[in-house]
Amino acid sequence: MNPIDVTTTTLDRGYAEMPIPFGWFAIALSHEISNGQIVTMKYFGTEFVVWRGGDGTLRAVDPFCPHLGAHLGVASDVVGNDLRCPYHHWQFNGEGGVTKIPYTDVISPSMKRSCLPTWPIEEVDGVVYAWFHPKKAAPKWEIARLPECPNGDWVLARSKQWIVNVHCREIPENGQDYAHFGAVHGVPSSPSTEFDVEGWTRHNKVVADMNTPKGLMKGRIEVTATGPGQSMVEYEDVTHVIQSQQVTPIDAQTTHVRWQLYHIPGLSEGKLRVTQARMRDLIKQIEQDMPIWNNKLNLEKPLLVQGDGPILAYRKNYDRYFDYSDDPEPAVVAAE
Ligand code: FES
Ligand SMILES: [Fe+2]
Repeated sequence: MNPIDVTTTTLDRGYAEMPIPFGWFAIALSHEISNGQIVTMKYFGTEFVVWRGGDGTLRAVDPFCPHLGAHLGVASDVVGNDLRCPYHHWQFNGEGGVTKIPYTDVISPSMKRSCLPTWPIEEVDGVVYAWFHPKKAAPKWEIARLPECPNGDWVLARSKQWIVNVHCREIPENGQDYAHFGAVHGVPSSPSTEFDVEGWTRHNKVVADMNTPKGLMKGRIEVTATGPGQSMVEYEDVTHVIQSQQVTPIDAQTTHVRWQLYHIPGLSEGKLRVTQARMRDLIKQIEQDMPIWNNKLNLEKPLLVQGDGPILAYRKNYDRYFDYSDDPEPAVVAAE
């Protein structure tokens, strides 16, 4: 996949030194990994290996076999629900335990339990998420699900992916940057209120008169971000749309952005047309941001003025995803 617009500046933009936040992050769409498939994931400035067992469940481990170091994402196989190393055919389960060695029955209890670090991995609403934490601390919150659909099930209408050359903190920050809406997108910033924080979510709800293709009407825009990797925006006016966004650091200066756009079921032809136009417009807007993201500097002390929006409050809240000093180091599993 190519970035929508490549970086043109050759100057140092100050993102490479930024930390990578901990959290749940999208690493694939569910349908992109079929039964028996093995994928080497390259995210968070590292690699890990994901496979889908015969039972349909995903599992994820660190990339190198603890026996003699083969890469478990290259020439390996799925056997039942286990991953088989290509080098000497040791088999590992989803806990990183050895289940079989073809040339010996002598496998120590600790090796059977776990000798290969694992990654928490879950599938929600057709998206595969992995929990990243630099010290491998356990997940601190649950992955957000789509809100309840008022009538039936949400209809997935569009699914898009982009790679942008910027730290993942920048993408949700865009919504707090009120002054760019007119300049970049040619739209007035929605009448915004500052966000509330509750636990690991950031929430913002606006009910106001909205400019729609059918004139001014009461509308609702509700933004809920869960952790640094997930945000959902619900638009309800002449149409009713959910924009589900996941941002995932490939490294500190490269971000994989995924969108799934849903609408309510049972739309009339007219409402479907308005809904599709809204979706096209949302996509156009994020693509207008990309050349700017791909070339901008990381300014930790931006020169802000009145009307810029709660950018610093957003960053202050975000800082907690960089703060893992109190999280314990993971227990080291040593083979006996
Ligand atoms: S290196 Fe994996 S089984 Fe030997
Ligand atoms: Fe934008």
